[in-house]
Amino acid sequence: MNQDELKKAVGTKSVDYFKSNSVVGLGTGSTVYYMIEELGRRLKNGELENIVAVTTSSRSEKQAQELGIQTKDLNEVDHIDLTIDGADQIDKNGQGIKGGGGAHLLEKMVATNSNRNLWIVDKSKMADKLGSFPLPTEVIPFGSEKTFNDLQKEGLNPEFRLNEDGSRFLTHNKNYIIDLKIGTINHPHLLADWLDHQVGIVAHGLFLDIVNTIIVGYEDGPKVIDNIR
Ligand code: A5P
Repeated sequence: MNQDELKKAVGTKSVDYFKSNSVVGLGTGSTVYYMIEELGRRLKNGELENIVAVTTSSRSEKQAQELGIQTKDLNEVDHIDLTIDGADQIDKNGQGIKGGGGAHLLEKMVATNSNRNLWIVDKSKMADKLGSFPLPTEVIPFGSEKTFNDLQKEGLNPEFRLNEDGSRFLTHNKNYIIDLKIGTINHPHLLADWLDHQVGIVAHGLFLDIVNTIIVGYEDGPKVIDNIR
């Protein structure tokens, strides 16, 4: 199985966790793509019914709407039962890095407003410790050079994310992404706490103590890691 087939297998399986008559959160990314396709299929053939979805990017929203999935804004729902999302790296304690696609601000808001969170990844995302994947931060353009300098002084090896044409990558909310090429993160909670207190940083990609269930794609089939919290 190639990586794409592993993503498809976990994306398809994860839809077993959605229930009829519920509010669901739809993440973003190439693995989530398969989950949304499968959700659309099961709604169409009647295996699932009466589902309202809160999406985390315009990409996922467009895909959901094209499949006839009813979408609502986060402000329009009073709760989310379950959110299914991808991740860029997950450590052995179920802590994660997200934001490789630059959608982590909306993803974090949806995740923290969800009763349960499920992540779907292929086996390449699993690691002993976080950090070999650069940690994304979303920063407001105002004063972003100052924010960058503060990150540099802290030894966090910042780099503005660029588009192919060399312009700065812009998020959904027209902010910049600064990726931190830190290497092994030995104390994710301490780092998250420091980043949470930097005024120009709107959101960072450390998703700590959030996920309940992970489905990992292996050649011999998806493996479910449950009861993480
Ligand atoms: C989006 O910003 C990310 O958090 C994605 O959820 C994450 O990058 C996983 O994406 P893939 O499934 O495409 O690897």
